[in-house]
Amino acid sequence: GSTLQDAANDRGRYFGTAIAANRLSDSTYSTIANREFDMITAENEMKMDATEPSQNQFNYTNGDRIVNWALQNGKQVRGHALAWHSQQPGWMQNMSGTALRNAMLNHVTQVATHYRGKIYAWDVVNEAFADGSSGARRDSNLQRTGNDWIEAAFRAARAADPGAKLCYNDYNTDDWTHAKTQAVYNMVRDFKARGVPIDCVGLQSHFNAQSPVPSNYQTTLSSFAALGVDVQITELDIEGSGSAQAESYRRVVQACLNVSRCTGITVWGVRDTDSWRASGTPLLFDGQGNKKAAYTAVLDTLNSG
Ligand code: G3I
Repeated sequence: GSTLQDAANDRGRYFGTAIAANRLSDSTYSTIANREFDMITAENEMKMDATEPSQNQFNYTNGDRIVNWALQNGKQVRGHALAWHSQQPGWMQNMSGTALRNAMLNHVTQVATHYRGKIYAWDVVNEAFADGSSGARRDSNLQRTGNDWIEAAFRAARAADPGAKLCYNDYNTDDWTHAKTQAVYNMVRDFKARGVPIDCVGLQSHFNAQSPVPSNYQTTLSSFAALGVDVQITELDIEGSGSAQAESYRRVVQACLNVSRCTGITVWGVRDTDSWRASGTPLLFDGQGNKKAAYTAVLDTLNSG
């Protein structure tokens, strides 16, 4: 294949990117996005604050813009994200108890229903585990509604859109030995054992010098897959430049290719200048839209790795 999506499709996988609605009018951006990627994630437009700015008043304008652009161009969509401690609308931030639990479930139901039939996979719950060595859940208003909030969200999402794969998505879950990785693994194993509807685990995979691609990354992918879920790399970016950055990207792609249930890779933005990171050059295209060495490494690995 001569594009990322074609090369990935030849390996039975997708290759995606995050899209910002307000950049779609930039033709350099939309041309690259349309040519290279076949799976689209809204970078912010389908989050809780964007879709439910006032309680029970839903706004799908920008989310629909991205979903329609994707579907009209023959692409699939990863929904991001139904329930999260962050980017909650103001009205939700100070809620607690049963009122918050019900508001969260209503949000999951309403948004998943609006997009029913259009979503390949939803990040149902995002970033619910603590960093560090505790292996505990992250403290949040949602967690304080009861430890079963995550499974309740998954059950509501399944009822609203039975055709979407339902994913748990997190960062710092790339190193197999990390307590957070083990904690997520144990939750997924428990969900599978008890019949809680979960189909996939998303590894965000934001890498930098402090947190490089771990040597056991493939073990993490294959260990989750062995639980009977798909694994997706959902927000890949790698700080750096030149051949070192290219080699890190190559290793990530090769690890996914080596695990049959690693169904696709999404990079978190198109050009370096589109990245959420305040500085740095973590993506596959430079600010002018030129292909970087990292791009060539990814394409070559998809074609022959
Ligand atoms: O749109 C407003 C603009 O009107 C305002 O003037 C400006 C001033 O701050 O803010 C703009 O909103 C920003 C938004 O990005 C759009 O650029 C928000 O402040 C900013 O917080 C928001 O950041 C997003 C971040 O999630 C928020 O948590 C990033 O774009 C987005 O890339 C990032 O994505 C997350 C994933 O959802 C979850 N995993 C980690 C990943 C990276 O942090």
